Amino acid sequence: MTPATPPAPFPAARMRRLRRTRALREMVREHGLSAGDLIWPVFIREGEGVEEPIPSLPGVARLSLDRLMAAAENALDLGIPAICLFPYTDPDLRTESCEEAWNPENLTNRAIRMLKARLPELMVMTDIALDPYNANGHDGFVVDGEIVNDDTVAALVKMGLAQAEAGADILGPSDMMDGRIGALRMALEAEGYSDVAILSYAAKFASGFYGPFRDAVGASGRLVGDKATYQINPANAAEALACVARDLAEGADMVMVKPGMPYLDICRAVKDRFQRPTFAYQVSGEYAMLMAAAQNGWLDSEKVMFESLLAFRRAGCDGVLSYFAPRVAKALRG
Ligand code: PBG
Repeated sequence: MTPATPPAPFPAARMRRLRRTRALREMVREHGLSAGDLIWPVFIREGEGVEEPIPSLPGVARLSLDRLMAAAENALDLGIPAICLFPYTDPDLRTESCEEAWNPENLTNRAIRMLKARLPELMVMTDIALDPYNANGHDGFVVDGEIVNDDTVAALVKMGLAQAEAGADILGPSDMMDGRIGALRMALEAEGYSDVAILSYAAKFASGFYGPFRDAVGASGRLVGDKATYQINPANAAEALACVARDLAEGADMVMVKPGMPYLDICRAVKDRFQRPTFAYQVSGEYAMLMAAAQNGWLDSEKVMFESLLAFRRAGCDGVLSYFAPRVAKALRG
């Protein structure tokens, strides 16, 4: 942030002069939020005409692909530039070897093809990690109780190539294995997908705020242990910056900080240090927390929705992944 010029002494300086009217407040507003800053994470499932509410994410549902198309069209009309897909995988297809993850006909890849055929202007982002396909809920292969790195990276590359082949615009590796960005970037170049962008979940912390997401993708009951051997310790800021530097050097086009609100210091540091496109993920637990308080009448959900998202812009983020996206975009339009 630029250093603040010391104001003149009182009464020459009265900060309230510029807060007096709405017009004055708008004139001196430093940061703004628009629909174009949002990426909308969406949960998808099999079926037709299905909108299955997720109890721990009030107002969010798993959508069958026909419903996804309608929702995506609405999002695009509202000015949201990108959507990010997360699959709820049928329990029968969850295995220890996770082969459904790189099946060209899996739910996500079918959704990508359908979206790109009908709404080519909407950017489609995907998630790269094994957890929606893994019988034990981990982002990587588990061998003798350990999450193995290099074999997982090879599988993630297959997964990412299948998504690129289906037409994904932005790949989002969220797995936190070492070396995955470089491996993915080289494979994309080698296979003719040099225009596919990577938004790396670079500074992803081992957080308690992912709980409702794990419900949404059906990983909660399955997860054996925790993700502390691959996600970043919430105590570590320098390590998060090192991960961002590493991922950019390996070929990430954009980077993400996740969760968002408890890690605004990391957002600011990443933007200042690297000056590259920086995103925050306002994760499921952050959304659930605000919505639960609002449902109890303890917070005004519209106010905290805007305030929480504006905080990311103030902290230097270019954009935010948020479950609030369509509601915000609609309110901004209204
Ligand atoms: C997993 C993944 C997670 C989220 C996005 N991708 C959860 C996890 O790491 O356990 C969390 C998103 C959210 O909480 O909204 N690869």
